[in-house]
Amino acid sequence: MRQRYFSGIQPTGELHIGNYLGAIKSWIGLQDTYEGIFGIVDYHAITEPYKPSAMSKRVIDAALDYLAAGLNPNKSIIMIQSLVPEHTEMAWLLNCITPVSWVERVPTYKEKAKQLKIGVNMGLLSYPVLMAADIMLYKSTIVPVGEDQAPHLELTREIVRAFNGRFGDTFPEPQTYLGSGARIMSLTEPTRKMSKSLGPQSYIALSDPPYVIRAKLSKAVTDIGPTGGEISPGTKNLFQLMSIFSSAETYGHFKKLYDEETIRYSEMKEKLADDIISVLGPIRDRRQELSLKPDYVRDLLIEGSHKAREIARETFLEAKDKMGLIYFYGE
Ligand code: TYM
Repeated sequence: MRQRYFSGIQPTGELHIGNYLGAIKSWIGLQDTYEGIFGIVDYHAITEPYKPSAMSKRVIDAALDYLAAGLNPNKSIIMIQSLVPEHTEMAWLLNCITPVSWVERVPTYKEKAKQLKIGVNMGLLSYPVLMAADIMLYKSTIVPVGEDQAPHLELTREIVRAFNGRFGDTFPEPQTYLGSGARIMSLTEPTRKMSKSLGPQSYIALSDPPYVIRAKLSKAVTDIGPTGGEISPGTKNLFQLMSIFSSAETYGHFKKLYDEETIRYSEMKEKLADDIISVLGPIRDRRQELSLKPDYVRDLLIEGSHKAREIARETFLEAKDKMGLIYFYGE
């Protein structure tokens, strides 16, 4: 039996290579050894301002990206979070054992609380508790994510310990699984992680056509000459991308030129663009094919959500039982 885990992505727009390298690539690599449940976590996405009319397209877009990147629906479950109500029910149970001080110290919460002019809603505060519910409902033993999610995983483990300590051993402590691209930086502000919130020039979307990838990379921040030994954040980011997308030979070639201080960044960027395009090209083609089959994608999401619900229901009832909340057996 393959061990199980849940991981997910918010449907907040087009997925980028940060999402791909930090999460999806690990999911694909683990498909044979683990049973993955991959959520399109729409309830997480409504904790910040959003457009109701855009949501449905974003959910489908995320599903297209998952499938095009290589998730195999015969090996993995792809689901929509809001179609499995046990996620929010479980989150309520966990809300009642999680001290407010634990969630208030989560770095992403603190950062967003500062940024959001309209103030913080209850959903944003208990966001990591819903995430813990996502993970715990499937008794996940690992969770492949990017590095930015590590504090959420730490909190999940604390909640697991709190639950097990109070109601008896029920959940495993999930380990954070970081892949080789766990922290990809923005192309325009390389001291910050690549993110949709920094604008389209800062990231490469999985669906970007080749000429857009070339244009974005050609403007990526590097350094303007030798930096006295310390590699600049932008250059470091390009080398990290090259170590993932290009051959060892290409990487070695440009690293040597960098060390000799004879590197021409325009050449490095062109080669990197070629190599990224050759990985993303087939993904983009598959995405286009799948977008012509909306019924297939819809049925797959509905079926995946049903399958996920069966597993989630069992765990949820177990948790309720442990908490003394089952009154009429067999009802
Ligand atoms: P989200 O939607 O912000 O990002 C989805 C995944 O992509 C990773 N990621 C990155 N990895 C490397 N470099 C980057 N620049 C980069 N940007 C994003 C994220 O680490 C994540 O793995 N809270 C989660 C969604 C979620 C979840 C869960 C994840 C909800 N419930 C349960 C795992 C398990 C989030 O907002 O990810």
